[in-house]
Amino acid sequence: RLQNYNLNRELEEQLSDKVYSLLMLIRKESSNLGIKAYLVGGMVRDLFLKRSNQDMDVVVEGDGLKLAKHLQEKYGGQLRYHEKFGTAAWRHPSNIKVDLISARTEFYNYPGALPEVEKSTIKEDLFRRDFTFNAMAISLDKEQFGTLLDFFHGYEDLLEGKLKILHNLSFVEDPTRILRAIRFESRLGFAMDSQTEGLAKQSANNLLTVSKSRIANELKRLFIEEDPVYGVKRMAELGVLPFLLNTLESRNIINIRIKRLSRYIITLKKEGITLDSVWISFLLLLTPLKREKDKLWLYSLNKGDQMLLEDLYELVKDNPLEKKYPDLLGDWHQHFSGISIETMLVFITLLPEETSLKGLKYILSREKMQKKVTGADLKQFGLQPSPKFKELLLNAEALQLNNPELSKEKILEKIIQ
Ligand code: CTP
Repeated sequence: RLQNYNLNRELEEQLSDKVYSLLMLIRKESSNLGIKAYLVGGMVRDLFLKRSNQDMDVVVEGDGLKLAKHLQEKYGGQLRYHEKFGTAAWRHPSNIKVDLISARTEFYNYPGALPEVEKSTIKEDLFRRDFTFNAMAISLDKEQFGTLLDFFHGYEDLLEGKLKILHNLSFVEDPTRILRAIRFESRLGFAMDSQTEGLAKQSANNLLTVSKSRIANELKRLFIEEDPVYGVKRMAELGVLPFLLNTLESRNIINIRIKRLSRYIITLKKEGITLDSVWISFLLLLTPLKREKDKLWLYSLNKGDQMLLEDLYELVKDNPLEKKYPDLLGDWHQHFSGISIETMLVFITLLPEETSLKGLKYILSREKMQKKVTGADLKQFGLQPSPKFKELLLNAEALQLNNPELSKEKILEKIIQ
């Protein structure tokens, strides 16, 4: 056990100069105000794992807001705070973000509710957290600087690769922790201990009480991890899929689609095509594709991501399963050239096998295509950029997809008649 071990050397060696000097600064200012401050959460965990982490979470015994305001007044940067919850986010001019909160215990009036909070000691504050390895703190006190507080054996669990909740109601109080647990398993190759896993299964239905935007946010974080397929597999194993985003489809169908999507992503990767945001494809696949009222959770996505979803709604609007899809890749292009690869992948995953494979072929050809005719070529013919211009370029691409052997001159000849 490392309780009370001094980690100053590790802090100095492993954190960037910017982060370390910011800790020293908090040490000085909190001591001037007679306040005790602690570094907690992800940054402490990642210090042991030797992983970089730029998000600084600081817990203060006493008035966290007072320290936050003082820091901002003295050193500048931006401050946002929530008087009622005693939380503050300070962005230091060096661009590092520090979350400062007053040590608190939380009460939940009902599962999934936002907690009522009350000021407390650091130990109580750590006890309300998700997993033992996220419940360690490092003192930023003037005299004790660098001392580890590890009341719940987090370090031991970290060494054993074990994800463990701190008390039996943890997942009931905050069901999003089930998704967080899967995320950490996925990222770190850790595993929940059997009691934690059992409680995760038992509490899965409480996810129904959580707002869609919080769920979407957690899913996004899960799917951003290197292996999103692992995330979905674990969600299925723990029985959480039926309680997410009111998916209307049966678990079986979702499983088939997810497997297909992962296969397609692997195929694309082998061909050297990587997606900017794989996560959104997985997220889209878990959402109800028709019901308007379920769009609420959408508002947690940024504008660009919302557009991807809107595109998908548009594509599936009039029964895509009953449609006849074209044979020629160029014809696919006429329909789908404006649809992003992420949305397109989800869309074809929904289609019957044969059509779906054709769709995949289209995506592959489209993404690998070296366009032979460009805007510059059209300008040489005296054409000016205009909607017509765009149409000609699209025709050129479609022709090339249908007949990759066709020379640039032949394509130009065919499109400008
Ligand atoms: N936390 C918690 N329960 C939650 C969310 C957060 O107890 N549902 C606590 C954990 O102690 C966690 C800290 O708040 O370490 C910070 O949370 P967050 O920034 O969401 O996650 P990190 O643990 O820093 O993970 P990541 O590395 O993915 O940012």
